[in-house]
Amino acid sequence: TRRDDDASSCCQLDSLRRLPKLDIKLGPLNFSRSHTVLINVDIFKQCGPVPQDGRDLWDRNFVKMPCSPSSKLDSKFKFTQVSRWKLIYENLKALANKATASVDEVAEAIFKYNPKYKGQWSFDALSRFVERIPKIENDFEKLFPRIAALALDLPEQVKKAVPLLQRGHPASITLSQVQISCLLANAFYCTFPHRNSSGPGAEYHSYPSINFTRLFADWSERKKEKLRAVMHYFKKVLETKPEGLVTFQRCCLRDTDVPHWWNCKETLDKLHLTSQGSIETEGTGMLQVDFASSWIGGGVLDSGLIQEEILFLMNPELIVARLFTEKLADNECLIITGCQTFSQYSGYSDRFEWAGPYDDLLERDEWARLNRQILAMDALRFKHRRDQYNMGRITRELNKAYCGFKDHRGLRGPDIATGKWGCGAFKGDPQLKALIQLMAAAKARKGLAFFTFGDEDLKERLEQIYHLLLTEKTTVGQLYEVLVNYCAVRQTEGSHVDLFEFIRTTIKPSRSQL
Ligand code: AR6
Repeated sequence: TRRDDDASSCCQLDSLRRLPKLDIKLGPLNFSRSHTVLINVDIFKQCGPVPQDGRDLWDRNFVKMPCSPSSKLDSKFKFTQVSRWKLIYENLKALANKATASVDEVAEAIFKYNPKYKGQWSFDALSRFVERIPKIENDFEKLFPRIAALALDLPEQVKKAVPLLQRGHPASITLSQVQISCLLANAFYCTFPHRNSSGPGAEYHSYPSINFTRLFADWSERKKEKLRAVMHYFKKVLETKPEGLVTFQRCCLRDTDVPHWWNCKETLDKLHLTSQGSIETEGTGMLQVDFASSWIGGGVLDSGLIQEEILFLMNPELIVARLFTEKLADNECLIITGCQTFSQYSGYSDRFEWAGPYDDLLERDEWARLNRQILAMDALRFKHRRDQYNMGRITRELNKAYCGFKDHRGLRGPDIATGKWGCGAFKGDPQLKALIQLMAAAKARKGLAFFTFGDEDLKERLEQIYHLLLTEKTTVGQLYEVLVNYCAVRQTEGSHVDLFEFIRTTIKPSRSQL
C-alpha cells in the first residue's frame, strides 16, 4: 500500500532534453590536435565526405594498417620478408573477382596472410551459418566477394593515419560511415596486423580484439543470430553507401574535475521512470548508456550477447571502436555520435534473435552525423555482491558515471537514457546503482530517463525513494554520507538491510531533529 506522500515526482519522457531539438551549434567541421578528422574538411560542405590525404605512420601511437608498406610477413625462406598487403591484395582480389565464394575459400584466403594460425582458427560457425540459413534468404556466398572488394579499398579510403585513443588522453576521431565499412570489411577478413595475440607481452595487449576470428569459430545458435546481424550490415552498406560521419570521443575526468562528493550541494535533477521500453528505442536522441566492458564492445566478436553486444550488433559501426580504443580506465568513457541502426532484434541473451532490417530515419546534425549518441561506460564487475558496499568502489562508480554524464567541450548535451547499469553480468545492486547514477546526473545537471527493463519492483521503489529525496531536498553530499553509513551497517549487520529502506529510515529522522 502506498502512502499519499509517495505520489510520483517523476517527469514525462518528453520533458527531457534530446537531440536534435537542442539545436547545438557545432560550427564548421574542423580538426585539431585532439580531434582527428579522416575526411577532407575543406570540401566537406560542398562535396560530402572525401577521404583526407595523409601518410602512413607505423608507430605506437597509430593503428598499424594492413596496407602499410611497413607491414611485412616472413617469407618461406628465412631472413627475407614479403609485403603483407601484397599477399592480402592478391588473395582478396582473387575472391573479389568471383561471383560467389564458399566459406572454405574465405578461410583459405585469410590463412594465406595469417599463416601461423592455420590449424588454430576454426571457421565452423561461419560454415554452419551459411548452411543453416535457407537459400532464399541467403546470398552470403555472393556477399563474401563484395566484402573482399570493400576491404581492398582501404588505401583509397583511409589515407591519413588513424590515431589510437590512448589511456589518459582525451581525444576524438571523426570518420565517414564508408570509411568505417571499409575498416570493418578488413576486420571481417582478419587483415589487421599485430592484432591476433592478446597475451601480456602482445603489442596490443591493452586493446580489444578487432579481427573477426572468434566470431567465425565455435558454432552456437547465438553465433547464428549474431552473424545474421553482421552480414545484414555488410549487405546494406554494399547496396547503398551510407552518407554520414561518426565521431568517437574518449573522455577522461581530470583529477581537478573529480567532485568532492561529500560536499556536493546539488539536489536531484529530473527523472523519468518506466519499466517498459528500452534505452535504444525510447531513449533515442538522449545520451544512451551502453552497459559497457572496459574493453569496448565486450564479447561482441565472441559469444557475448547482452546489452552491449546487442547494441553493437544493431549498430555495427560501433565495432570499429575496438580498433583504436584502449581499455577504459576508471576515470574514462567513450561517447559515439552518429552511428546508424541497421537491424532490429527480439529476445535477449540466449533468446536473442535478429528480427530484420531497420530503416534508420534519424536526422543528421551539421556534421552529417545521425542524431544518436551512445555513452559507453563500464561498471565494476563484482565477484561477490557484497564487494560493492565499499566507499572506494562506490566513489569509482560515481566518478565513472559523472565522467560520462558531464558536458565535455562546453556544449550542453542531451539528458541521459539509462537503466540497470552494471546489474546483470556485473552483479551490481540495482538500488545502489540507480542512486549512484542519480547522484552523478544531479552533479552533471542532467535529467535521467531510467528504463528498468521489466523490473516493476525497482520502478516502484525507486519512484518512492526519489519522491522522498526530492521533498526532503536531500543533496548529493548528504546522500554520499548516507552511503558511508550504509556501507558501515552492511559490514556489521550483513546483507539483510536494503538500501532504500535504510535511506527511508535515515533521511526522515535527521530532518525531524532539525
Ligand atoms: N534497455 C534497458 N535495459 C536493458 C537493456 C536495454 N536495451 N538490455 C538489458 N537491460 P548487462 P552489466 C537491463 O548485464 O551488468 C557485456 O558483456 C537488463 O535488466 O548487459 O553492466 C558488456 O560487454 C540487464 O540485466 O550489463 C560487459 O562486459 C541489465 O540491464 C558486461 O556485459 C544489465 O545489463 C556488462 O554487464
